[in-house]
Amino acid sequence: KLSEKPIFIHHANELITVAGGSDKPFKREEMNNLHIVKDGALWIENGQIMAVGTTEEIQSRYSDRLNESIIVDATGKIVLPGLIDPHTHLVYAGSRENEFNMRLNGATYMEIMNNGGGIHATTTRTRAASYEELLSESKTRLDSFLKHGVTTVEAKSGYGLDWKTEKKQLEVAKQLNEEHVIDIVRTFMGAHAVPANFKENPDEFVRIVIEEMLPQVAKENLAEFNDVFCERGVFTPEQSKKILEAGKEYGLIPKIHADEIEPYEGAELAADVGAISAEHLLRASDTGIKKMAEKEVIGVLLPGTAFFLMADSARGRKMIDEGVPVALSTDCNPGSSPTTSLPFIMNLACMKMGMTPAEAITACTINAAHAINRSNEIGSLEIGKKADIVMMNVPNYMQLQYHYGMNHTDMVIKNGKIVVE
Ligand code: NIG
Ligand code: FE
Repeated sequence: KLSEKPIFIHHANELITVAGGSDKPFKREEMNNLHIVKDGALWIENGQIMAVGTTEEIQSRYSDRLNESIIVDATGKIVLPGLIDPHTHLVYAGSRENEFNMRLNGATYMEIMNNGGGIHATTTRTRAASYEELLSESKTRLDSFLKHGVTTVEAKSGYGLDWKTEKKQLEVAKQLNEEHVIDIVRTFMGAHAVPANFKENPDEFVRIVIEEMLPQVAKENLAEFNDVFCERGVFTPEQSKKILEAGKEYGLIPKIHADEIEPYEGAELAADVGAISAEHLLRASDTGIKKMAEKEVIGVLLPGTAFFLMADSARGRKMIDEGVPVALSTDCNPGSSPTTSLPFIMNLACMKMGMTPAEAITACTINAAHAINRSNEIGSLEIGKKADIVMMNVPNYMQLQYHYGMNHTDMVIKNGKIVVE
């Protein structure tokens, strides 16, 4: 994955470093400060960022080595940290456009799920898929993420709901991390739905997740995080708490799908169990938001899911104003958000949640890095960080959101190597 030659990027109209937030995620007004260097330059070597500054500074510092480097002209463009997607259901089989059509005819997401569709439909497909099929479908999605400037994704299991398939999903994610240029961080989400055969006895399924699956996840080192779908009709806050607390015993960091469809005190629970992040939060209560701010739980917001479910978005503006560190994600999955365009999610964050273009960038870089516990490696352009970099073909960062729904990605550098150009 390493490039032999150093790379010198120069004359970036705006070099968006998002520097200074590696210890703690940015909050409130900090989210607006992108630490931009005008006419910026970078020196990249051995997969790392070696120097950050103006073109003049970096050029004179490395003047005797310019002829051995790959020179990238960023004139008229912006250069920013590779985008990070901290919440995806990357590994699954099949698609659900039929349900999309049903929803356009009036059915709701939960109705479809309660009638055996939704997550259950994808579970059936994912169980039936061979390891190789799952690998190939997921790889196609990763390729698409990369073309949109995304260099790291989190990937959840949760379409197995039995150990064999949960394990298959996590192993596919592991192999893709090794083989694909994109880095993948794994989350176990055995508690994504109550499988059909446990409908009458969901507590028994909770017991299996806790006593049979979690120990295996830890023993085989299959994931770093433990997530649960806390939602009326899926897992109660009590069941969710048990699962998340049990995961902690095995060193798995809690995450939670919270208050997505109905208010259900998921945000409050995230604060109580010390989750690193709470995700969705469309219906998070005022108290939940306050508690998240107090405990510095990152709010991972997924405005694409609200858009695709035709629901009102999370109160992103309020969360930031109340001091919640906010990150953004696609939620890439076949039911509620079948997209890999993180840039479009940034557009939606501005249009539907009142976030500023600068906040949207912070939310997809350093704050997203925090949401997956990688803030000392990625998420900003600072000396010593991984050279995960994206060049966008717009003259300033506001145009990323202004020319919405377009892919401005012009070049992607991953681990110090040019991988998209
Ligand atoms: O984040 N809410 C639960 N899980 C996913 C959707 C999964 C699916 O519909 O397949 C979500 O929205
Ligand atoms: Fe999700």
